[in-house]
Amino acid sequence: MGTNRSSTLGSPAWPAKRLSPSPVESTLSPELTEHLEAARARATAATSNEDLRAIDRDYAGKGGVVAGLLAAIPTLPPEERRDAGQGANRLKQAIAGLLDERRAELEADAIAEARTGKGFDPSLSIPAPARGSLHPVTSVTRELEDIFTSMGYKVLDGPEVELDSYNFERLNIPADHPARDMHDTFWCEVTGAERDSRMDLLLRTHTSCVQVRAMEELAPPFRVVVPGRVFRQESVDASHEHTFHQMEGLVVAEGLTVGHLIGAMKTFLREVFRREIEVRLRPGYFPFVEPGFELDARCPFCPKPGAGCKVCKHTSWVELCPCGMVHPAVLAKSGIDNEKYTGFAFGLGLSRLVMLRYQIDDIRHLMGGDQRFLSQF
Ligand code: DAH
Repeated sequence: MGTNRSSTLGSPAWPAKRLSPSPVESTLSPELTEHLEAARARATAATSNEDLRAIDRDYAGKGGVVAGLLAAIPTLPPEERRDAGQGANRLKQAIAGLLDERRAELEADAIAEARTGKGFDPSLSIPAPARGSLHPVTSVTRELEDIFTSMGYKVLDGPEVELDSYNFERLNIPADHPARDMHDTFWCEVTGAERDSRMDLLLRTHTSCVQVRAMEELAPPFRVVVPGRVFRQESVDASHEHTFHQMEGLVVAEGLTVGHLIGAMKTFLREVFRREIEVRLRPGYFPFVEPGFELDARCPFCPKPGAGCKVCKHTSWVELCPCGMVHPAVLAKSGIDNEKYTGFAFGLGLSRLVMLRYQIDDIRHLMGGDQRFLSQF
């Protein structure tokens, strides 16, 4: 609106119509009346607010006509100065009045024209709304969920504010166990009605606590994965965050062995990388598995398998996940017959996988919420 107004101005109402005289006009000297008429002619011809602002600048602005008149006052004979001052101010007032009037007319005109529907082009495209995209952690989580569901796993969820018993006790990590030192825990202060219930609440330090919830709720045989946020009181740097992501896996059935664990991990890697990936097990200690392992994968980023590259720090192996056979005591604590059933579990470092996948070198980007980072995905 307001850019192409010529059609309205050509209408019979314009420019024949004269902007109405203001009450102060009759008191103006012939010289000032001449200025006023010139301003009126320009205002009448104005077709936009920008035109009106230019007129205002020329008359009422710094160095404009009114300022010139006022500046000349000291040069006048003293008896004329008062009238000259008043005259200049009246001129200013009269011009402001006619600019207001013309502004209102232009606006009314624009509204009238918009109502006719002229100038509306339904074929013009609408500017596209800004589109968001999935967070890289979400994309990788969904991809892994797809793979594991295709392998017969259920996807489970669990609370982020967790009980000490699920996060530690029932995973064979009692209060005085040194393994707790590995988990710098955020404890929650319990107040109000729950205060005396002796509930020890914390922000879960790993997704393994959902293993216990799964064992409580599902009857074996079952296979589950649990993606989710976990929290540790870390000093934050490029590879440590207080909030990060894991994906837990737990399978409980009759007759499971380490062979099944290796098979599951190799199937998973084959799906991710679309080829066979060699794995190796190193011993690892986690109180809720026995035996426990660190599972490494032959670096999938090396130009040739085994060649070594920057990602694997030239070792040709990347640490994939800690894992192991579920400790019989852990099964028993959750009411599962450990004579009949065995299980394996693994804890994928989801944040680390995302970083590997997209070659992100600083974990702080993941939860930082910086649009410049996020808009690259
Ligand atoms: N929950 C462990 C941690 O965050 C990782 C882990 C180790 C998970 C062994 C497992 C496992 O499921 O079997 O340190």
